[in-house]
Amino acid sequence: MSILVTGGAGYIGSHMVLALLEQRQEVVVLDNLSNGSAVSIARVENLAGRDVVFIEGDVRDRTLLDRVFREYPISDVLHFAGLKAVGESIEQPIRYYDNNVGGAVTLCLAMESAGVRRLIFSSSATVYGEQDSVPYHEGLPTGVPTNPYGRSKLMVEEMLRDLATADTRWSIALLRYFNPVGAHASGCIGEDPRGVPNNLVPFISQVAVGRLEALSVFGNDYPTADGTGVRDYIHVMDLVEGHLAAMQAIANRPGVSVWNLGTGRGYSVLDMIQAFERAAGCSIPFRVAPRRAGDLAQVWADASKAQRELGWRARRDLDAMVADAWRWQVNNPGGYAA
Ligand code: NAD
Ligand code: WQD
Repeated sequence: MSILVTGGAGYIGSHMVLALLEQRQEVVVLDNLSNGSAVSIARVENLAGRDVVFIEGDVRDRTLLDRVFREYPISDVLHFAGLKAVGESIEQPIRYYDNNVGGAVTLCLAMESAGVRRLIFSSSATVYGEQDSVPYHEGLPTGVPTNPYGRSKLMVEEMLRDLATADTRWSIALLRYFNPVGAHASGCIGEDPRGVPNNLVPFISQVAVGRLEALSVFGNDYPTADGTGVRDYIHVMDLVEGHLAAMQAIANRPGVSVWNLGTGRGYSVLDMIQAFERAAGCSIPFRVAPRRAGDLAQVWADASKAQRELGWRARRDLDAMVADAWRWQVNNPGGYAA
């Protein structure tokens, strides 16, 4: 049997594909390369010493999906393909709904017609919106995401719940990622954002490597210990291992299951800068800037449900996250393109 990984040429997907290959699984990757790189697939194959079937194409292309399901004996689908830039989603909302919601609809229709009903969906902590207190646990009602990207994730979650209610043969995991960072320890694959990074860790990495001049810290007047925003950063390899555990669990678990993938602890922007300075052995110039619209003061996961039900927990600490992010950045200062 094969695993279909949509978005497998992207940041998280490429790390996932490597872990699957290392588990001796057969992998089919479908990616339109809108934000991914074929080089990442080649590097993954090199690291694993095994090949994947790579199909360049769009998850909204029903004809292509039907062909993929006909040609390969797919048992499970890991659906990473999607657009993820919050600011861009505010400027181009319909593109985001088309890609993220439309992509999931087409994928589910093709899965249905192929009789494949095991799906892992890349959701996000953003579906909680702003809650009264941290940590965020899966029993909380979903909230109001502050942007179209977040709403597209919530829409897909709700659609998948309806699907599993209507047809109990489906087994679906909604994995709510907190803040994935870091890279594979080899330094050969990692996060390669196009243009100026939106997210904190890739931005700091590019400052440390000299591609960007200084970090803007978005607000230092939040009600947190040092005034800067607090997030639950999780190593991408821990995140990937959470998917492996979820895949195993839903094999015998019909319906929809929701698991947070986080560490259960938060770090501030200043904590992240300091950790990076330790890893890179240089100082990270920064200036305090106004708050970024839509940002919350503090978000971290209650990670106990995944530990209880999946036997999984994040093991890599902050120093490992930033050391691995830094190794990737130093080895590949220009990303995959260079
Ligand atoms: P990424 O952009 O690196 O990877 C996504 C991949 O999907 C890219 O390779 C892109 O080319 C591909 N893709 C996009 N639209 C496609 C389409 N219509 N058809 C085929 N391929 C398409 O992003 P990532 O960080 O690896 O995120 C993976 C998933 O996890 C996304 O769904 C994202 O929303 C979700 N997520 C990410 C984070 C994060 O901080 N990175 C947090 C929460 C959730
Ligand atoms: C982290 C902290 C910023 C950049 C986003 C999406 C979420 C999920 C993950 C994915 C915050 C501060 C950042 C900078 C800064 N999406 N910051 N200067 O906002 O928690 O989550 O990515 O697909 O849906 O919203 O992550 O890394 O952007 O920010 O001070 O240049 O760093 O204010 O406190 P965020 P982030």
